[in-house]
Amino acid sequence: MDVMDAMKTRYSVRGYLDKQVEEEKLEKVLEAARIAPTGTNAQAFKVYVIDTIKNREKLLEVYSAPWLVEAPIVLAVVCKSNDAWTRPWDSKNIGEIDATIVMDHMILEATEQGLGTCYIAAFHERPLIDLLGLDDEYHPVLLTPLGYINAEPRGTDRKKMDDIVEYI
Ligand SMILES: Cc1cc2nc3c(=O)[nH]c(=O)nc-3n(C[C@H](O)[C@H](O)[C@H](O)COP(=O)(O)O)c2cc1C
Repeated sequence: MDVMDAMKTRYSVRGYLDKQVEEEKLEKVLEAARIAPTGTNAQAFKVYVIDTIKNREKLLEVYSAPWLVEAPIVLAVVCKSNDAWTRPWDSKNIGEIDATIVMDHMILEATEQGLGTCYIAAFHERPLIDLLGLDDEYHPVLLTPLGYINAEPRGTDRKKMDDIVEYI
């Protein structure tokens, strides 16, 4: 599968089979995170691999959709903003941009491995911080379930090229 195939194959999976993810596949997904680019190569992120059987009730406080815990694993990307690059002239910190790229890398590799995922930003931060045991320096950016697919894509049309690209 080339990169464009992976991008076209991926969709937000909101239903998972009761089936474990093989260790080799998880390792490939985590390797995609490890090699992701970050501004100034700061690598100011961590990835948490959350076992949904052990952490079911807490995960449902974080995000209440039952399909989240159908998958055997939930991945969380957290960032340490103080270690990420900050644009000096306007103090724009790019830690969340870095973390989003990390999640995108993992999601595309998961697609390559035949696994389903779904970016989740609509989580409750406090219970997630408690679940992960994060100190004040880290904050969660995105979650995804990781597992075998048991749901069809929703119709999610995209805008036309002319609507999103401007040549100037
Ligand atoms: C940054 C980001 C955050 C998202 N957060 C959620 C979420 O909290 N819950 C959810 O069900 N889907 C979430 N989505 C999925 C989007 O709704 C979905 O990507 C979009 O509708 C396009 O559909 P597709 O992913 O199937 O192509 C999120 C997507 C992105 C990129």
